Amino acid sequence: EKSNLNEDSASKEGFETFTLKEIYEQPKVCMDTLNSKLENGDIVYEDFPFTKEELSKINKIYTIGCGTAFYAGINFSYLAKKMLGIESFEILSSEFRYDLPNLDENSLIVAVSQSGETADTLAALKEARKMGAKIVAITNVLASAITRLSDYSIYTLAGPEIGVCSTKAYTSQLMAIYEFILYLAKATGKIDESKFKEYIEELKSIPEKQKKILDDVGIYEEIANVIKEKSSAFYIGRLIDYKTAMEGALKLKEISYIHTEAFPAGELKHGSIALIEEKTPVIAVLTQEEVFEKTLSNLEEVKARGAVTIGIYSEIFRGKDKTDFSIFVPETYKVFYPILTAISVQLIAYNTAKALNRDVDKPRNLAKSVTVE
Ligand code: G6P
Repeated sequence: EKSNLNEDSASKEGFETFTLKEIYEQPKVCMDTLNSKLENGDIVYEDFPFTKEELSKINKIYTIGCGTAFYAGINFSYLAKKMLGIESFEILSSEFRYDLPNLDENSLIVAVSQSGETADTLAALKEARKMGAKIVAITNVLASAITRLSDYSIYTLAGPEIGVCSTKAYTSQLMAIYEFILYLAKATGKIDESKFKEYIEELKSIPEKQKKILDDVGIYEEIANVIKEKSSAFYIGRLIDYKTAMEGALKLKEISYIHTEAFPAGELKHGSIALIEEKTPVIAVLTQEEVFEKTLSNLEEVKARGAVTIGIYSEIFRGKDKTDFSIFVPETYKVFYPILTAISVQLIAYNTAKALNRDVDKPRNLAKSVTVE
């Protein structure tokens, strides 16, 4: 994947594009993000403004953001429901600001933004502040505008991201989200010390698992050659896999310009399956045991209608895969799969965009940071 070094590519460190370099930086930046808050096996947020009592009173959580940052954020609200037992919602910043829920000091807003400057997210936070909600930002830029509107900022250590489509910023946001959820779960007594330690150990193993995915990229070119032939593609998944499906669809459309939509796998048959024709690519994310068979049968439905099927599976399903192309990611805890499957969806998008000769680092019509409304 490396090209010869010349002046222009020097800062790409031998990679053909910034985006590819940034994809390969993910194990490191995820590790850095995790380690930045770990002290003697505990998670420490210096000067965190909320007491355990205040945290225990939180009864609603809203995650806000735009684009890829929103898709990272929806993992937070999902985990908050599962692991904290708190009613949690995800709302796009551009909707939230005009349609505010009832907020008070027992509401927690988690705002995710790589740049920390996205206009809609800032506007949403200004409204939330007026209503007294507690605000925590997850951002990649020190002292960005978002940090000034927040009670506390958790920084991702992704470093500068040059490629317009977000890759390493996204997975480092996920890592920061996992860590913050564990912090809240421990502070509010939702998990005990030994469970907490197990989770932390698992998080420490994530970068090695990401490396494994990046070391075995042979299949992506083959998949890209199939996807590039069609003008539309679909991503499906259930539960937490649907979150990755949404990010996968965004990645594929933004850099390859192939129209891509994501569906919760069970919803495809309620209308959208009409769009499946000969060789339409349907990419499924399958990591969750309790819905594995259901998603497999959705894949069979589309295959019977001519689709080419591609599966991104947990290693635990090896041998049970039934797709035309199968990708496997290493086994991890159920809730952590998105930080692994993210890399597979990036590689699918990247290889497809390359196969179509797209300008991967600077896709048309897009800006890295959207500071206008
Ligand atoms: C732009 C970028 C996206 C990004 C979104 C949110 O649309 O092209 O890649 O996800 O803004 O940006 P933020 O800086 O708030 O994460």
